[in-house]
Amino acid sequence: MNSEQLKRQVAEAALQYINDYDMVIGIGTGSTVNHFIDLLPNVKNRIEAVVSSSEVSTKKLISHGFNVKELNQTGDLSLYIDGADECDGHNRLIKGGGGALTREKIIAAASNQFICIVDESKCVDVLGKFPLPIEVLPMARSFVARQMVKLGGQPIYREGFTTDNGNQIIDIHNLKILNPVDLETKINQIPGVVTNGLFAHRSADVTLIAQSNGNLQTQ
Ligand code: 5RP
Repeated sequence: MNSEQLKRQVAEAALQYINDYDMVIGIGTGSTVNHFIDLLPNVKNRIEAVVSSSEVSTKKLISHGFNVKELNQTGDLSLYIDGADECDGHNRLIKGGGGALTREKIIAAASNQFICIVDESKCVDVLGKFPLPIEVLPMARSFVARQMVKLGGQPIYREGFTTDNGNQIIDIHNLKILNPVDLETKINQIPGVVTNGLFAHRSADVTLIAQSNGNLQTQ
């Protein structure tokens, strides 16, 4: 199966978690989630509303006729479905390749169950091969970058990109993240950091992994 087929397969598998009526669910961002959004009309009768993690996903959800609500209107969510850029064997993730990490982290934290959908190319033993995104307030960009050099990373400014929150992203290369929980905390303590793309404190509850041989693994 090619990469798009794998994304479609794992997105389809996530539909089984929409197993109740009147559900209000969180929806992530990215090409894997785009497949999930395209499949969501199949279970529309079970969904009362959705909370979206980005303007891009919101547009797509509205085009399919879903009621998109603000998290402030809903309270905690029963379910959040999202992709990831990297996943380790403990369901700890790197996210933010699409730049939506802050809203994604908020929705994940506000959800009782977080189902992550990936293909096997995203699975790693140690996180860090994928550059770790950090959302920063624009005035703090260079300061945060210098702190990340001290932590052993190589920061690259994501030029020409502004997040949905009006901020900037720096991508940190060359990290070998042996303790993701500690690093997530450490980076978030740097003044000017909005959040970083490590999802270790609030990891996924379940990761669905589409394998190139056509099998689906649940971790
Ligand atoms: C966006 C994300 C995405 O979940 C992540 O980038 C994976 O995207 P894709 O499914 O396109 O590989 O964190 O901020």
